[in-house]
Amino acid sequence: MIASQVTAASKAWKFNSLFEEYPLEEAVKRASEMERERAYWSQLPLIQELYKVGWRGWQDLPGAQLIQDLYEWEQGINRQNKNEPSYPKVHSNPYIWKGELAPEQMRDVDIRLYLLVANGIGSTGFSTVQAFLEGNLEARQLINWWHFDEETHEDMKLYAISHRWGVPEDHLLMESEKLRIGLLKEQEQAIDINNIRTVTRFQATRYGPAILAGALMLFERENVWTSQRLRPALQRHYRYTNEDLVFVNVHTFIDIFHVKLGEYLVAKYAKTKEEQELVRAMYQNQKLRQAELSKAFFNKLFAGKTVKLTQDEVDGNVG
Ligand SMILES: [Fe+2]
Ligand SMILES: [Fe+2]
Repeated sequence: MIASQVTAASKAWKFNSLFEEYPLEEAVKRASEMERERAYWSQLPLIQELYKVGWRGWQDLPGAQLIQDLYEWEQGINRQNKNEPSYPKVHSNPYIWKGELAPEQMRDVDIRLYLLVANGIGSTGFSTVQAFLEGNLEARQLINWWHFDEETHEDMKLYAISHRWGVPEDHLLMESEKLRIGLLKEQEQAIDINNIRTVTRFQATRYGPAILAGALMLFERENVWTSQRLRPALQRHYRYTNEDLVFVNVHTFIDIFHVKLGEYLVAKYAKTKEEQELVRAMYQNQKLRQAELSKAFFNKLFAGKTVKLTQDEVDGNVG
């Protein structure tokens, strides 16, 4: 057993005490302050700059228009799907917010999310390597900062599911390992605008430019509002305790910061038309594919069919 698994429970408790002590809004505020404080301890002045309240520096950088376009596009997609109960994703949508899943269905959704998170997070490490190969120190440092946060989230999810549903951590780790082995078999291919819509996230980060990590950071924007809606629903309908909620709690605020990293990376380094179109396609494809897969999942679930993870989904979530 690795050290991080041994300490998962203690870490979870430490973080979660905020959400026990204070109402959600105050807890989010304090947790968010904790993240900023961590930035101030950092040796990287860049992180300190980006994490300042109200930072909008990306708006003066070359890729600013692209980011504005993506945000507007996303608002349109959200509006179009406002009556779709499976939207935006398998683990946060009106079916769950209204408590329409049976407890065992909720458990399956939760386990599925762990498997997605475990493999999605692992593969983002490739973007650090890409930044190294590209000689982009700044991108490497920001991606590493993000990657470290996400690694801790994987631990939180493992702990929370095991605690909530009584599934042994060893079993979850074994299932995750099977998926990882499947992912590694994917073919190497150069990533460009022609294939970015068909490759998996794993392939995109492994073989594509480091800037694609910025697209994934931007994509985490929706995690904030979806987690804030999810939290009270899990408490009310599924009786989640504060210990069970550690992963959800952290996502009520942390991606406010991850999005800032993404805004900086994309706005500064997606300069050429090709780079910008690659980021745009990655972002939009993730959003559309996630909605499609979520709909298919619930169609099968409510038809009483076994819902297995497809290869397409295995790396479908950074978390
Ligand atoms: Fe994140
Ligand atoms: Fe995360």
